[in-house]
Amino acid sequence: MRLSIVKVILFCVYASVLLCGSDGSTVLPKNVSVSAILVFGDSSVDQGNNNYYNTWGKANFLPYGEDFMGGIPTGRFTNGKTMPDLLAEAFGVKDYLPASLDPLLKDKDLQTGVSFASGGSGFDPQTTKITSGLSMSVQLDMFKQYLGKLKRNIEEEVADNIINNSIAVIVAGNNDLLFTLPVRRLQYDAASYANMIVNMVLNFTQEIYTLGVRRIVVFSAFPLGCVPAVRTVGGGLGRSCVDKENNVAQLFNNVLKHKLQIWGTSYPQSRVAFVDYYNSVMSIIENPHKYGFDVVDRGCCGTGELEATYLCNKLTAPTCPDRSKYFFWDGFHLTEKGNSIVLNHILQDMVNTLF
Ligand SMILES: *[C@@H]1O[C@H](CO)[C@@H](O)[C@H](O)[C@H]1NC(C)=O
Ligand SMILES: *[C@@H]1O[C@H](CO)[C@@H](O)[C@H](O)[C@H]1NC(C)=O
Ligand SMILES: *[C@@H]1O[C@H](CO)[C@@H](O)[C@H](O)[C@H]1NC(C)=O
Repeated sequence: MRLSIVKVILFCVYASVLLCGSDGSTVLPKNVSVSAILVFGDSSVDQGNNNYYNTWGKANFLPYGEDFMGGIPTGRFTNGKTMPDLLAEAFGVKDYLPASLDPLLKDKDLQTGVSFASGGSGFDPQTTKITSGLSMSVQLDMFKQYLGKLKRNIEEEVADNIINNSIAVIVAGNNDLLFTLPVRRLQYDAASYANMIVNMVLNFTQEIYTLGVRRIVVFSAFPLGCVPAVRTVGGGLGRSCVDKENNVAQLFNNVLKHKLQIWGTSYPQSRVAFVDYYNSVMSIIENPHKYGFDVVDRGCCGTGELEATYLCNKLTAPTCPDRSKYFFWDGFHLTEKGNSIVLNHILQDMVNTLF
């Protein structure tokens, strides 16, 4: 384990005593370890890949990164650590998960995992035509290239072991449901579209399994009707959550959960954890004070109503005075604290399913 004892203990205090033994061990069972974290998905788990190609969906300027290693904007769509960083830390792998396109990556960075995720990504090829991100099929190709690089300087068997003992995390589908479904309404109703995206998730899961990944974490869709930008557009004067968007997310999640479970039983060597992102987030939005939040209906950046990417910048959008009181960082993304409180909710179930 690379995690220092101090960090582990801090994590345990933060993550509630339920998750950690009184000796300050990590959340993992004693006889297992995780070699690498491999992340696929959208802006919530983009560790800076969008810095390296032409897209408007970027976050490599302040105030993004305001609380990241003393104020370094890295392309992470939040003020500090993302879910991939926090997961890598919780699983004792490393403190920060890098972007796969980062040109400074060393071979040893590759051996403990990277994120292939890209802001704007989705499963539907139409989605990245709208958002200009790297689609999930492009991310699959990036993973294949990564496997080639991984085997450059280490024995094939060692590389296979790394992948076999890795955890893959998939956080995607949100952009498809939020941005692409409305423009595909003539071809699909919500149920048939959700079903199509679920089939694409399963196809993706199958593909990475074929490439050697055995432990796979799939995040459900977010309660899309409750993100600040959606509240602003559709939530009326009270800026309430928008049922239509939440219903689509729930429809998708129900099918996804069911089909993933069936998929898992036909691959006995796999461990697939469906993460109920939707209800974890909702329980925080419905009881903000229980988790130390004052504001859950707007972001910390600017007015908090709509700003994201270029609209959330140092000139136009001063940030809120106390980031720790805000669940959302901008119109779409969680603060570091938001991410870590959500992780507290989901981690134990995830570990129980994966090991
Ligand atoms: C770890 O220990 C548990 C409990 O003894 C056991 O069920 C599990 O198979 C072990 N896992 C590994 C990878 O050895
Ligand atoms: C992969 O890991 C699983 C358990 O983590 C183990 O049972 C299996 O033998 C490993 N396979 C290879 C090829 O190392
Ligand atoms: C996934 O979908 C692609 C494109 O439709 C197809 O070529 C591929 O065979 C599918 N993979 C699996 C494992 O079903």
